[in-house]
Formats: sequence, C-alpha cells, structure tokens
Amino acid sequence: MLNLEQVRRALEAAGQSHILQFWPELGEEQRDRFLLELSQVDLAGLKEHCEGAAGAAASGSSRLDLPLEPVPPESIGSMKRSDSRSLAEWQNEGLLQISKNRVGVLLLAGGQGTRLGVQYPKGMYNVGLPSGKSLYQIQAERLRKIQELSDRKYGSKCTIPWYIMTSEFTLAPTEKFFNENNFFGLEPSNIIMFEQRMIPAVTFDGKVILQSKGKMAMAPDGNGGLYQALVDNEVLEDMKTRGVEYLHVYCVDNILVKMADPVFIGFCVSKGADCGAKVVEKTYPAEPVGVVCRVQGVSQVVEYSEILPETAELRGPEGELVYSAGNICNHFFTRAFLQEVAEKYEGQLKQHVAIKKVPFVDSCGNQVKPSKPNGIKMERFVFDVFPFSRSFVVFEVVREDEFSPLKNADGAAKDSPTTARNALLAQHRRWATAAGATLLDEHGNALPSPASVSAGDAPPAQFEISSLVSYFGEGLEDILKEKMLPTPFILEERNAKDLHAQQQIPAQ
Ligand code: UTP
Repeated sequence: MLNLEQVRRALEAAGQSHILQFWPELGEEQRDRFLLELSQVDLAGLKEHCEGAAGAAASGSSRLDLPLEPVPPESIGSMKRSDSRSLAEWQNEGLLQISKNRVGVLLLAGGQGTRLGVQYPKGMYNVGLPSGKSLYQIQAERLRKIQELSDRKYGSKCTIPWYIMTSEFTLAPTEKFFNENNFFGLEPSNIIMFEQRMIPAVTFDGKVILQSKGKMAMAPDGNGGLYQALVDNEVLEDMKTRGVEYLHVYCVDNILVKMADPVFIGFCVSKGADCGAKVVEKTYPAEPVGVVCRVQGVSQVVEYSEILPETAELRGPEGELVYSAGNICNHFFTRAFLQEVAEKYEGQLKQHVAIKKVPFVDSCGNQVKPSKPNGIKMERFVFDVFPFSRSFVVFEVVREDEFSPLKNADGAAKDSPTTARNALLAQHRRWATAAGATLLDEHGNALPSPASVSAGDAPPAQFEISSLVSYFGEGLEDILKEKMLPTPFILEERNAKDLHAQQQIPAQ
C-alpha cells in the first residue's frame, strides 16, 4: 500500500489533487480505506484516463460512412435456415466436446444493473415465475441438465466449469447467495468467481468524481474488462489445467440463455472458428441493437448509432434486412484465441464512453444526487475482440427461443421482469403443447393453443418447466402426451417421474 505522501504526489502529477480535499475531515478508519482504494488505482495512468474520458465524451459518437459488408453466408449457421441434419451433427459435436470436459461457460456478472435499480446483483433477481427461481438458479439448472444430457449420450461423467466474472459490487453478495443455496446442486469447486477491475468515473472537464469525502466514484470497466480480468485472476491457466478448450460467454440478464449450447458450440468447432457470436434477426431497421458485420473486411459489432440510416434500411431480394444480425452478447471463444488476446491485443481494445448520473460530493462537502447526467464512465465491450479473430462465425437463433434480457424495472415497455417472465412461460407452453399436453385454466377449461394467442394478449399460462426436466424442450412427450394439466403448474423432476409412470400404464 502507498503512503499519503506518495499518493499526494501522484495525484498532483495527474492534476487530480481535489481527490484529497476532505482528507483532514476523515477519521482514521476512513483514511485507511481511502488510501487502500487509491493505492489500487492505476495512478500512473490516471492523467491519461481522465483526459481521455473528457476528450472522448466531447467528441461524441459518429456515424460510420465506411464500406460495411454483411458476414459472408459460408460463415453463418442458423437454427431456422440450416438443414436438420447439420443441426443434429452440430448438437452431437457440441455434446461430444462437453463430454470430454473441453467446454466451459463464463458469465459476465460484474454490471451494476442501474436500470433495473435493485441493490443486489441482477443474477439474484426473481422475475416472478411460479417457482420463484432467480436467474442464477435457472442458469445453474440448465448447466446441470446439459451435463446430464451429454453424460447420457456419451456414457461419461463430465464437468462444465462455470466461470463467473463479478465486480466489487457483485462478488460478495453473489458468493453468499451461492453458498446459501448450496451452489444449486453444482460442485462448488467447479464454480470459479473472479473480479474485474474498477476505474474512476470522471466529470466532463476531466476530474475524478468523489462519491463521498473519502471515496472515489468507481465503476467496473465494462464487460470487455473480461480480458484484463482473465489475466489478473489467472483464469486461462485454470482453463488449461482443466483441459477446457472452448468457452461459451454470456450475460447474466438473458432469461432464455442456453448454457453451453451444444448446437452453437458444435457449429463453431466444426467450422474451426476461434471466435463466434450468436445473433437474432433485427425486427426493424431502427432497432437499437449492435449489428454483427464486417467493416473493410474486419468482423465487428457496429452500434446502431454508428450506422447511416440508409444503410440500416437496406434490404435483400426477399425483403430481409441486409444488416440484420443483432448481437445478443452470447459468444464462443477458443482458449487459444483468448490467450492471444490477453498476450497481444488487450491494450488495443477500444474504450467506449457511457454518460451517466453519478452521485457526488460537491466542493462544499454537500452530497448531491444529480438530476441529469454529470459523469463519464469508460467501458470496454466484450465483443471488441472480434476484429482480432482469424476465423469468425455467426450463428443465428430464434429470438423467442433464446433472447429476452432483463434490463429495466417493471413499467418499461421492453426488457423488464414481466417481459422476461412471459418469454420463459410462453416458451414452456409451446413445449408443452408440442409434446401433446392440454393446459387448463383455473375453471378447468382448456386454454387456447399458443398459436392462437398473439403476443401482448392476456398474461401467459402459469406453466413452468424446470430446466432439470428439459433443456430445450426434449423428452417431454413421454411425460406430457395427452395430459390435461391444471395451471398454475410447475413441472419438476419429482412430478415428471409420476407423470411419466402414468404414461406407461396402458389406457383401459
Ligand atoms: P449491461 O450493459 O446491460 O449493464 O450489461 P448492466 O450493468 O447489466 O445494467 P445497467 O446498464 O447498469 O442498467 C450487459 C452484461 O455485461 C455485464 C452485466 O453484468 C451484464 O451481464 N457487465 C457489464 C459486466 O460484467 N461488467 C461491466 O462492467 C458491465
């Protein structure tokens, strides 16, 4: 730890002496904590960080008038367009790699979830499903199920390690939550939590913001902080020791995420890809999602705000959008590629500017909650390594099956607890109907089939299927065929066994 004099000199050199303005007012304990925080910050790079942030915010984002090209068709797989034989082959390949312990998953869970507005990590959030399960529990159970499917197919006992990137805000509560919930039935040594770095938020004139008299306003360095965090925490070494060659990286907030999706992994492995992205079709040209495409031959994600409107509106021969590959933060990486990024490219990753409302203490010592944005947080994005890929592929999935993120609090038009819950329940209802079940309302009347219910209609049937019973809708016919099921209903391992046993008794 540095001493006060060393810190004072470094701050002076960086033009940030105001950070110690309230030092004389701090108690001994506060001083110790503040000095520790300051010792952990890259003081040598502070000047550059603050000037860079202010400069980047002032220059704003610009639309790219660059020659964009869509990803070439030979690098694209698709749940909708690829033939069923290829899909089955990819799934088998993915399960094979899983069975050989070559696959890991990595959760990006270091975000502050400011839009959702809860004081705990987003993964602990319960969106109000009949089971009351949190996002973490849903993910853990999918992981258990896919291990089981792979074990069953290839007759071995496999492990998918679960790497979880947290931040100062999310590590302790996430650890506690997993402990209290007995790691959701997973082996604790296969859950590896690590922390990403934090960096100071800065005012528009390049001054570090003080959150209180003895604390800087710090924010995690974006989900692209992953690459630095992999190095800081020796995660790649851990992967190597375990024999993990492929990593599925995903965001905490997508309730439909397919953990270690064997089809996606199998597709990427079969294509010899070092890096891959799942995408969903954009619904309309102005939809504010990043688009996976090429710029001067280099694969990357181009933000909606960077594309000229006339480019976003371009359509192909069948009326489809040319730039339709919406990024959903669901990626494949080989360990070798991540190693190369860590060794050669980490320092070259772009910095993005996020303008936010950052609570602060003013120069008179008053605590202020700003009503408009006052601060700059610099972030790196996980997809910014795409340009370094030598063999980049894209896998197109169906939105209603795989993507429903939880971003906002209820009341928002999209990406809220209600939309996430409804997306999952609608999927489970589709699966039940496809398996031949009839769902009944509280009066015992049959609910109309999902096809005749349009989105936005009455709340979905309260019918939930545990991921421990089915991962992607498989195996349900043996349990549900010709069953009349009252709702609310939760299909779990226990009652699934009973229903399955009934299925075996021939009708009189
Ligand atoms: P978002 O950009 O949606 O941020 O993160 P957020 O923190 O969840 O929510 P807001 O913007 O504050 O409302 C997308 C994913 O990236 C992770 C998040 O945890 C989420 O899984 N993330 C984000 C990190 O892991 N680290 C970060 O620094 C930022």
